[in-house]
This record gives sequence, structure tokens and C-alpha cells, in this order.
Amino acid sequence: MKQIAREVRTLVMSIIAKREKAIQNGETTKDDLLGLLLESNMREKEQKGNSDSIQGMTTDEVIEECKTFYFTGQETTSVLLTWTLIVLSMHPEWQEKARDEVLQHFGGKKPNFDSLSRLKIVTMIIYEVLRLYPPAVMLTRCTYKIIQLGNLTIPPGVLLRLPILFIHHDPEIWGPDATEFKPTRFAEGISTATNNGQLAFFPFGWGPRICIGQNYALLEAKMALSMILQHFKFGLSENYQHAPYTIITLHPEYGAPVKFQTL
Ligand code: HEM
Repeated sequence: MKQIAREVRTLVMSIIAKREKAIQNGETTKDDLLGLLLESNMREKEQKGNSDSIQGMTTDEVIEECKTFYFTGQETTSVLLTWTLIVLSMHPEWQEKARDEVLQHFGGKKPNFDSLSRLKIVTMIIYEVLRLYPPAVMLTRCTYKIIQLGNLTIPPGVLLRLPILFIHHDPEIWGPDATEFKPTRFAEGISTATNNGQLAFFPFGWGPRICIGQNYALLEAKMALSMILQHFKFGLSENYQHAPYTIITLHPEYGAPVKFQTL
């Protein structure tokens, strides 16, 4: 672990050093998170007139921010797309519906932001994949004071686990077909799907610590899926074994061998 941590630090440090040099040379690098972070940090330090000022972020803090965004943002969206390809291979009729919608909106052109947010079928599919295969299978919380939860009184220091995966599969909420892939349950939006707004669908968490990257992740997934659908038909290889399992995020244990065929 320590070796990996050192490697990641060195990698991020070299990216930061390059960026800082570019900013000092007057090149604009503001169009991504690291650029924004470094520019605002440098400005802050300049204004305070003291590079040791506690107002700016330290290099270690910038590194930690980069690690948070990279590790929380990369793996989660990647497994979401992986499960989407698996599920659409298992349900070719939904693959066709999604492709029809994408071609109707974009034809062969690169999808744009406005139209991506208007994709209805693709959104229903992605929600249903997030329900069945939530990349984060549970949330963990620790009580810091006495908490009254219904008729339970929980003392401070208790670790609570909110099992997203189980709640997403509960037949009492979703009906007897809870384990089936049925994107139509999201046809009228999330609140209708969850029995009039019960808090039963929360792949991105909930409350003050809800995923900060939620909109970005959905946009990224829709963009990637649309571009795949525009160019390829896909199906599972005969080697595929369905075995969802968790190491931090929910993965297919033996990978996702998918065969692509150009359209
Ligand atoms: C499908 C993709 C994603 C899923 C399923 C997901 C899921 C989650 C969940 C469940 C939480 C809440 C954790 C908790 O309450 O304990 C969370 C928090 C967070 N996510 Fe995501 N996430 C995704 C994509 C992203 C992306 C793309 C980014 C950044 C670019 C990101 C950045 C974060 C950050 C920084 C937090 C912590 C927020 C806070 O504590 O205030 N996530 N995510």
C-alpha cells in the first residue's frame, strides 16, 4: 500500500509541477479541475503575499483532491458503463431501442450536451443499471451523538451501514420483478419508480454528502454509451460468467468479454 501511495504521489506531483510551470509561463490551463484548483490557489497565495500563507492549499492538499476526484470518479463511472454493456448485451431489444433513440437525436454526429440530457430511453436504461448494479453497494455512517431512528435509540460511536444494493433489490419497494431488468419502471422518472418518492433509489448517496460528480458521471456515461451505440452492435462472448462481486465497487468477477461488431 505504501509503495502504491508513493507511486501515485510522484505521478500527481509531476503533473502538478508541469501545470504550475505552464501557469507561470502565462499559458491558460483553466479548463479542467486541476487547472482551476492551481490557478485559484496561486491567486490566493499571491493576494496574501506570502507563499506559506495558510489560506492557500498545500501541495499535499492539492494531491489529495486530485486523488479523491480520480479514484471516486474513474472506477465508478467505468463499472457503470461495463454493467450497461453487459445488460444491453443480455437484452438486445433494449440495445436496439437505445440505438434508435441515439441515431434519431444525433445521426452519425458527435453527441452534444443539450441533446444528451434529452435522451429518455438511454436515461431509463442507465438508471435501471444503477439500480441493479450500483457501483457503490453501501454507504457507511458513524453516529456522533445519540440518534433516534424510529423506535431505535442509537448511542454515539455506532457504525451504520446503508445497504444500497439490498434496498435497490427489495421486492416490497420494486415489486415481485425487483431483480429483473425493466427500464420502463423509470419511464415516469425516479419518484414514480420508487413508490411515490420513497428514498429507495440512491446510487449516488443522499443528503449533504451526495455525490458531487453525479451530473458529470451521468453525462459522461450517456456520452460514452451513445458513441458506442452509434458505431457498434455488441453481445457477450460465450466466456462471460455472470458473477457480480465487490472490491470497493461492484465488478463482474471474471471481467466483461464483449464482442463488438461495426455497424
Ligand atoms: C456512476 C458514477 C458514480 C457513482 C455511482 C458515485 C457514487 C457516490 C456515492 C454513493 C457517494 C456518497 C458516499 C457517501 O455518502 O458515503 C459519492 C460521493 C462522492 N463522489 Fe461520486 N459517484 C460517481 C461518480 C463520481 C464522479 C465522476 C466524481 C468526480 C468527478 C465523483 C466524486 C465524488 C466525491 C468527491 C464524493 C464525496 C462528496 C462528499 O463527501 O461531499 N463521483 N459518490
